[in-house]
Amino acid sequence: MRFDNQVIAVTGGAQGLGFAIVEQFIEEGAQVTIIDIDQKAIDQALHSLSSDSVDSICSDVTDAAQVNEIISTIKEKHGRIDVLVNNAGIIRDNVIWKMPEEDYDSVMKVNLKGPWLMCREVAPIMRSQNSGRIVNIASRSWLGNVGQSNYSASKGGLVSMTRVLALELGKNNITVNAVAPGLIDTPMTRSLDPEVYKMLEQSNPCKKAGKPADIAHTVAFLSSDEAGFINGQVIHVDGGKSIGASVQ
Ligand SMILES: NC(=O)c1ccc[n+]([C@@H]2O[C@H](COP(=O)([O-])OP(=O)(O)OC[C@H]3O[C@@H](n4cnc5c(N)ncnc54)[C@H](O)[C@@H]3O)[C@@H](O)[C@H]2O)c1
Repeated sequence: MRFDNQVIAVTGGAQGLGFAIVEQFIEEGAQVTIIDIDQKAIDQALHSLSSDSVDSICSDVTDAAQVNEIISTIKEKHGRIDVLVNNAGIIRDNVIWKMPEEDYDSVMKVNLKGPWLMCREVAPIMRSQNSGRIVNIASRSWLGNVGQSNYSASKGGLVSMTRVLALELGKNNITVNAVAPGLIDTPMTRSLDPEVYKMLEQSNPCKKAGKPADIAHTVAFLSSDEAGFINGQVIHVDGGKSIGASVQ
């Protein structure tokens, strides 16, 4: 198994893409910690996984003191951290002339500051191990999307941060990459107006939404030995939505 006994932390791991990523790593032998702000969702996730290979920490990734605590707890328990997946993220969509300042701030905090805080805590541990993998969940929207000036900027920032950390940490045998999903069927996207969801599916070259497992497979590949020379890249997993200006 590719991740036998590896210690893996997944933020936002209680539902949606994060949950699928957690499932994938457990299937492949890892010891996984779910980090999520929603205790109810954590309880449901632990119940449905029903595995000795998973534990959880209910915390907010935007709070520096809590992030310090998260990483020390994992390090104390397992002695190392092999893979960090920064997946927690939120949307607060609106055109800029209707977007409240707090919706800009909250999206930037969760989607960009959260991963930065997590990476800052994990980097010294991975450097001292001389090994590690970081996978950041960006979005196809980093290319630009109407109604997402906050979200696209946060994910564009996350892509830039991925590239910087790849440069800073590569010499320590640590790779840092990003996955940019298109529309995937999760609680986040199901919170959209059903008509908007249908329109988004139809605007995809594959005429459908992706499944959480599509993202989990890509994250697992980037975290595996096979991907050891892939560093600082963004992999779009979006049915081809990012490759053209117009779709028939
Ligand atoms: N679903 C999609 O179509 C899609 C597309 C592109 C990118 N993404 C990205 O994938 C990631 C996961 O999305 P999803 O659709 O599974 O979302 P989701 O809302 O279903 O799940 C997100 C999880 O993150 C947790 N979370 C939110 N804020 C947190 C915080 N401050 N600290 C800790 N945990 C927090 C939530 O409790 C939730 O469990 C996000 O970064 C999102 O931007 C999703």
